Amino acid sequence: MLIFLIEELGEGTSLLRTVKKGDSIKLYGPYGNSFNTDVDEVALVGGGVGIAPMYYLAKKIKEKNPQAKVSLYIGLNGETQIDKLFLNLKNLGLDVKVKFGGYITDIIEFEKHKLVYACGPDPMMEKVALICKDKNIKSYVSLDKRMACGVGACLGCTVKTKNRNKRCCKDGPIFLGSDVYE
Ligand code: FES
Repeated sequence: MLIFLIEELGEGTSLLRTVKKGDSIKLYGPYGNSFNTDVDEVALVGGGVGIAPMYYLAKKIKEKNPQAKVSLYIGLNGETQIDKLFLNLKNLGLDVKVKFGGYITDIIEFEKHKLVYACGPDPMMEKVALICKDKNIKSYVSLDKRMACGVGACLGCTVKTKNRNKRCCKDGPIFLGSDVYE
């Protein structure tokens, strides 16, 4: 079974919301890079729609290394209903913590981690990355930019990094937190 979590933000996502069972759609990709799943210990931080990749990522890490220590921090606004699917994450042997409203950074036990992966709203990822930098923890963020071509041709998704401008779709979307946020 393939599940998509879609936030309706523009024409493309509105159209996707109209897709019904039995309709056919064409998918291209995957494009760009991805989080490294070959890890022994990691904290995954997902906010809003950013929890969707974290769910998949946690599963992939555990498939590769069932002994891996994976802590999952989920941030949601007060009204969001958390699906059973995500509560089932505990069955994967993850340490799951959920925060409704406020700052997810309030519940992250940074001192326990050497590696943090984050996906969610930009202010959340910035805060996570800056705290990690301050505490000497390596962090990676999955940036969410408006994309037109998706294959590195239009430069519409440019990201300023420490060294040079990069394309979110082709060079990312995963970047070292300390390269993007200062
Ligand atoms: S969306 Fe066109 S270069 Fe990234």
